[in-house]
Amino acid sequence: MPLTPPPPVPDYAAPARLTSTLRLAPGQVAFFHEHGYLALENVMPREEIPQVRAAYDRLFNEERGRTEADRYDLAGTKQAGRAENVAQILQPAKYAPALLETQLVANLKSLMQQLLGPEARMVGDHAINKPPHNTAPTPWHQDEAYWDPAKEYRGLSIWVPLQPATKLNGCMYFVPGSHGLEVIPHQPIGNQPLTPGLEVVPGTYDFGAAVACELPAGGATVHLERTLHFTPANQSDDYRRAYIAVGTQFERPRATPRRFPWQERQAAARAARAGQ
Ligand code: NI
Repeated sequence: MPLTPPPPVPDYAAPARLTSTLRLAPGQVAFFHEHGYLALENVMPREEIPQVRAAYDRLFNEERGRTEADRYDLAGTKQAGRAENVAQILQPAKYAPALLETQLVANLKSLMQQLLGPEARMVGDHAINKPPHNTAPTPWHQDEAYWDPAKEYRGLSIWVPLQPATKLNGCMYFVPGSHGLEVIPHQPIGNQPLTPGLEVVPGTYDFGAAVACELPAGGATVHLERTLHFTPANQSDDYRRAYIAVGTQFERPRATPRRFPWQERQAAARAARAGQ
């Protein structure tokens, strides 16, 4: 089989080509820092939604990223021939660079700076596509549990549904104020170490204070690196498409080391499988 080089990683941090049309009110910035999340009704022009959704669907329909291992099942163990529970593509802009030219991304980059300061930069993106009538929630987690434990971060994720997001199809839920926690214990989803997704160890945290953020298409939620969040299974008749942009204000070596044992378990399980 001829080897084709993977597409280059796009320059996410480059200034946006278009000028942002989004300006937060001071109260929205204050809400975000007080509660660790923010819901916005509209982060892209209406006419851009079908265009971005078409590019998004094309990536999934054409199986982009599969050979580069950028596409996988977040909630399963990649058994060949089985449909994914929760299909994820890492760095979709690698496969559809036009995404970074949109008004949406110009607005998201501006949003990162309005919330974290002028030094904040977009550092990546991903796409999570839940099929209709799927049974897999994206369980409770903190994004930092996925990141390098040797570093400390100030970062945020912006989650943009490309159709309305409801409790029925899997909108975002947050625990207000949880951004003030340390990274709490996680495990691979279902305690299966070959599953790439993570979950808070069941029974170790009370999520009773969670709030749901239903949104129109082209709205967004924003959350910090430690804000606890979750989306339920998609019980609707349509795909639940979400485009996610990640931004950081800083990322630097930690003064005090720490370990994320769940990442070590996953790495050991992958190494054992590769050696079989
Ligand atoms: Ni997350």
